[in-house]
Amino acid sequence: MPYSILLDCDPGLDDALALLLAHGDPNIELVGVTTVGGNVKLENTTRNALQLREYLKFPDVPVSAGAAGPLVREARDAAHVHGSGGLGSVVLPDAQLAVTGQHAADFIIETLKKTPGKIHLVATGPLTNIAIALEREPAIARWAASFTIMGGSYTRGNATVAAEFNIWADPEAAKIVFDADWRVTMIGLDLTLQAHANGAVIDRLKQLGSLADELIVPLATFYFNPTMPDWDGQAVHDVCAVAYVARPDLFLAQPARVDIETRGEFTAGMTVVDFDTSTPNSLVATKLDVDGFWAYVESVYARVAAEHSA
Ligand code: RIB
Ligand code: CA
Repeated sequence: MPYSILLDCDPGLDDALALLLAHGDPNIELVGVTTVGGNVKLENTTRNALQLREYLKFPDVPVSAGAAGPLVREARDAAHVHGSGGLGSVVLPDAQLAVTGQHAADFIIETLKKTPGKIHLVATGPLTNIAIALEREPAIARWAASFTIMGGSYTRGNATVAAEFNIWADPEAAKIVFDADWRVTMIGLDLTLQAHANGAVIDRLKQLGSLADELIVPLATFYFNPTMPDWDGQAVHDVCAVAYVARPDLFLAQPARVDIETRGEFTAGMTVVDFDTSTPNSLVATKLDVDGFWAYVESVYARVAAEHSA
């Protein structure tokens, strides 16, 4: 029975790879894509989502644009990682189809309301759209079958020493999201840094033909930096969040209390994770079956690649 997924994202190199997985896995029905400003400006994350939709041929999946920036803070991006356009060196044909015209938050509310308990909500960018949707309709916390994010860390950050980018980009939104009446599955850096597209993975992906040449390999190697000591390849952070929904068997996760630091001068955006709590609000992923993960992801990508070349 397919997993219905609504993906809120900021494409983004790894968001694009996550979209490819959500589209390509026959056990996943991608029911909608919403975009948020994050890695790059909203106009670029939205353009990228629209172009990927047509390039990967899922034209019937609605795309709705959302928040251009955080709830209260100045927008901060990751263009230095993803390139100014957001997809690194990848250039896709202009999209012919447009966004829905509905705000992402309202699309999320309307979509979850139609089929309560059926749709798995996944967020792989800053949590601004999710927070706005919760503020407008708190019941989405009950209507979502599950809620999984790529974000946070219970050790070190990547945007700062303390904070992971998606949380750091909008800590106030993250606080609203983690304080809502649901259990957040947090796929944080501690998990995603186990999912490196290393040399062996890239060599296998290169066998997948034009889809690999035009999209997968350039996305997965854009900030490939073999000069760094013991460089093990780019982590496909966001792919892990989608993979968790379809293949939770590949992950170990523990209940925890996650609080978001919003006031710290040096720690704003930090996810403060307490695994010893008696009042968990989250499930925090800790371990990945790395070989199983790549076998799964590569099998789905190979399936899409075969159709793409046909
Ligand atoms: O910290 C990694 C996260 O930040 C990923 O979602 C990546 O796309 C960036 O948004
Ligand atoms: Ca992202």
